[in-house]
Amino acid sequence: MNLKGRDFLKLLDFTPEEIGGLIDLASELKAKKKNGIAHNTLQGKNIALIFEKTSTRTRCSFEVAGYDLGMGVTYLDPTGSQIGKKESIRDTARVLSSIYDGIEYRGYGQEIVEELAKYSKVPVWNGLTNEFHPTQILADFLTIKEHFGKLKGIKLVYMGDARYNMGNSLMVGCAKMGLDFVACAPKKYFPDQALIEKCQEIAKETGATLSFEENPNVAVKNANVIYTDVWVSMGEPTEVWKERIEDLSPYQVNKALMEKADKNAVFMHCLPAFHDMKTTVGKEMGEKFGRTEMEVTDEVFESSQSIVFAEAENRMHTIKAVMLSTL
Ligand code: CP
Ligand code: NVA
Repeated sequence: MNLKGRDFLKLLDFTPEEIGGLIDLASELKAKKKNGIAHNTLQGKNIALIFEKTSTRTRCSFEVAGYDLGMGVTYLDPTGSQIGKKESIRDTARVLSSIYDGIEYRGYGQEIVEELAKYSKVPVWNGLTNEFHPTQILADFLTIKEHFGKLKGIKLVYMGDARYNMGNSLMVGCAKMGLDFVACAPKKYFPDQALIEKCQEIAKETGATLSFEENPNVAVKNANVIYTDVWVSMGEPTEVWKERIEDLSPYQVNKALMEKADKNAVFMHCLPAFHDMKTTVGKEMGEKFGRTEMEVTDEVFESSQSIVFAEAENRMHTIKAVMLSTL
């Protein structure tokens, strides 16, 4: 596998072998880190991390992975640079890529990160856009592989807003890697038809299956992984909360739903999650709409079936694999 000089913008751009190679490399790097074996082979290189939306996991993963590889790291926060306000993406790409060896970008439309990559001389990595969150999927799949020993044939059910970054990316990832993907939501939250068709084509080659189901009880039958994400994503207006709660409450991941899946099923979530009232937004929306939990109950989140923190840790190892492969 040679990914030197490549951008990492969406999983659609990579073959199943390349995605599998990144997951295996992440596993090797994880073992090195756990055993205290230095892997600072990118000493002398520097990377810039652009965040137009906030982050805990992705930012910290890029930073620590960068340090472990021996690199210098600059973090550009959502307000602290000229990007977008006084300087175009095209100009930013040309400036930063003459100073840095790699650029991470988290922001709004996928077209922005694609444009950044087009005008950058160095690899650009997508740290989340409205449409895709590809580094998250590498971490999710490493976690599934660690837990079940395989990816092919695993049934993954995504509950909730399946037309946004997580639903889209999981569908693409499952199609590429031969999983059985089910999006479970009211019809209007199913992924975009053109993307579904693209993924159906890929699935034909890999043996994956894709289905779209409105009934949660039907969807989760024999499921190995139940996955969900927040009902309202970063950058969306607060006015959509009411509609989302009304539409998606029947799709909440709770104990009764977990019991309808395979008995060894696990719960996954990219995080952050609204599973209690211990956050400002969770508390505010909870009080406004008379709810103590949203997309997942605290009981499931804290249960032994939940592997969300293993999943979060794997963000760092997989992001490290992406940077090491492309630089
Ligand atoms: N899962 C994820 O991308 O988390 P952050 O928003 O904290 O980076
Ligand atoms: N769908 C969420 C994912 C966060 C990691 C968002 O875009 O806010």
